[in-house]
Amino acid sequence: MANTIKVAIDGPSGAGKSSIAKAASKVLGFVYVDTGALYRTVALNALRKGADPKNAEQVIATLENLKVTLGFVEGTQHVYLNGEDVSDKIRTPEISMGASAASAIPEVRKFLFNLQREIADANNCIMDGRDIGTVVLPDAKVKIFLTASPEIRAERRYKELCEKGTETTFEEVLADVKQRDYNDSHREIAPLKATEESVIVDTTELDLEQSIQAVIAVIEEKMH
Ligand code: DC
Repeated sequence: MANTIKVAIDGPSGAGKSSIAKAASKVLGFVYVDTGALYRTVALNALRKGADPKNAEQVIATLENLKVTLGFVEGTQHVYLNGEDVSDKIRTPEISMGASAASAIPEVRKFLFNLQREIADANNCIMDGRDIGTVVLPDAKVKIFLTASPEIRAERRYKELCEKGTETTFEEVLADVKQRDYNDSHREIAPLKATEESVIVDTTELDLEQSIQAVIAVIEEKMH
């Protein structure tokens, strides 16, 4: 089914991509694919094997025999590392930084490309990431670039981490957000950027519900 409906949502970390895309997918009856989880899983595997995520040679060596797969349980995405469900284990600040570093390695991107493409060719989906509209689904019918100020993104992430009991400070989270923005948009391969067709949705002044409605409105307009 190669003519599935593909919606690409790209943007910096903490812009609300996953919560918004998840909710919009539910309303539209599409599969939601969080591609950041794939990079996080590669980073988790690399760290477990003692590799430095910034060291391309070491990370590439950990790709051998690695199987990353996605499953959908009651509409929610689960990610598996050689069959182990690591969906929760990949949500730590250490893995965030590791994924940002590992995702700059071309072999890592190549390793994950087909998996993303196959899912999009088999399902109507909303896929979120950094290079979905530019590289993975250049043929997407709808391309959205979702963004918000670094301060508001750090504030949202800080709250999330506090709720999970992770010890950190707002300043630390803001520094992380800025560092990841820089890494993700300045890397040579598939940097984070909007395409000419992208509709920019800025959620700085919007709450979650308003952001979801704004995204659904763009998708519905483009689909008609
Ligand atoms: O969306 P996220 O925070 O879970 O993503 C983790 C890291 O993975 C992020 O720093 C950049 C990288 N990434 C990417 O390079 N390309 C994607 N399509 C998705 C994520």
